[in-house]
Amino acid sequence: MRGRDVPALVSGREPYDPQAWFGRRAPLVLEIGSGMGETTAALAAAAPEVDHLAVEVYEPGLAQLLMRAAEAGLTNLQLLRGDAVELLCACVPPDSLDGIRIFFPDPWPKRRHHKRRLVQPAFVALAASRLRPGAPLHMATDWADYADQMRAVCDAEPLLRNTADTPDGWTPRPGWRPMTKFEQRARSEGRDVRDLIYVRV
Ligand SMILES: C[S@@+](CC[C@H](N)C(=O)[O-])C[C@H]1O[C@@H](n2cnc3c(N)ncnc32)[C@H](O)[C@@H]1O
Repeated sequence: MRGRDVPALVSGREPYDPQAWFGRRAPLVLEIGSGMGETTAALAAAAPEVDHLAVEVYEPGLAQLLMRAAEAGLTNLQLLRGDAVELLCACVPPDSLDGIRIFFPDPWPKRRHHKRRLVQPAFVALAASRLRPGAPLHMATDWADYADQMRAVCDAEPLLRNTADTPDGWTPRPGWRPMTKFEQRARSEGRDVRDLIYVRV
């Protein structure tokens, strides 16, 4: 396994071809912003029947994930270096992904920086269009106002439906999502962690 460059895929210098990369046809899940890869590697190891793509701009994080994947002998994980929006726009066909995960995206807490947040209407419309009908868009954040923003944006997206079966509309934390040091710290500092799972209609 090695990392691939999103710009090479976008320009067509290298084909976007997950079936060739993994050497099989299997359900394909994209994680956006895998960070240091703790969650990514654990989830790939827990689901060998699913192929995992991790797209990340932060190269030291990708290097860490590469090491974790090699240590665990993962063959169902491929790393993509670059911008997830470019990848989704230019490479990923509509109705093709079996899931998208966005765990703890950069919160950009200052109000004047909110426009830099990933989860915005245009991005959510793009991401939803790349999911197969019935496939989940799973987000988690420890920033309350970003959680509210995610929910407002996804509720307004006609291609998505909230799966939460709870009075308050939040998804209970799934036990299969690994508890990272990052999340433990957020909890110990008193920040609630919100999960949201929408599906493509
Ligand atoms: C706060 S970190 C969370 C990392 C990891 N998901 C976790 O739960 O620990 C957010 C990550 O998203 C990455 N990121 C932000 N925008 C991105 C984009 N457009 N495409 C790919 N990665 C992105 C950042 O580089 C960063 O590593």
